[in-house]
Amino acid sequence: MAEGMTDDTLKRVVALGADHAGFQLKDLLKADLLDGGVEVLDLGTGGPESVDYPDFGKAVADAVASGRADLGVVVCGTGIGISIAANRNPAVRAALCHSGLEARLAREHNDANVLALGARIVGSEVARDALHAFLNTEFAGGRHAKRVAKLATI
Ligand code: RB5
Repeated sequence: MAEGMTDDTLKRVVALGADHAGFQLKDLLKADLLDGGVEVLDLGTGGPESVDYPDFGKAVADAVASGRADLGVVVCGTGIGISIAANRNPAVRAALCHSGLEARLAREHNDANVLALGARIVGSEVARDALHAFLNTEFAGGRHAKRVAKLATI
């Protein structure tokens, strides 16, 4: 089992999506997940040709919203455009993270179901740390539950 992967992590299907600025980091994270035995739904892109981040943010959001995936990871240059795209789906709570701490708190407090990363902003080790924290943290519920429920009413 790869470092940072637990039995709970392994039960999940994780959808991945990136644009041309993010596909290398996406592929690196994919290898990590596969190494750890996590089922991956890779929705592209698969190469450096210029593509539009909304298409890949939407694809991951659709996969999470439909239940084809339990969680998603989206990557573009900054993580901003693709997180905006994913968050257009009302079932998605995408969190743009630059650290493992943010990723952990995004799960714990916000029940985030999509992790957004900026490949031109964070290094690969920080991204891996954020991914592991995201996958290995559960929503805390309690006082956070009514706040997350309110998000759905906006
Ligand atoms: C692509 O050049 C870049 O604009 C995109 O990856 C992303 O950073 C947008 O938010």
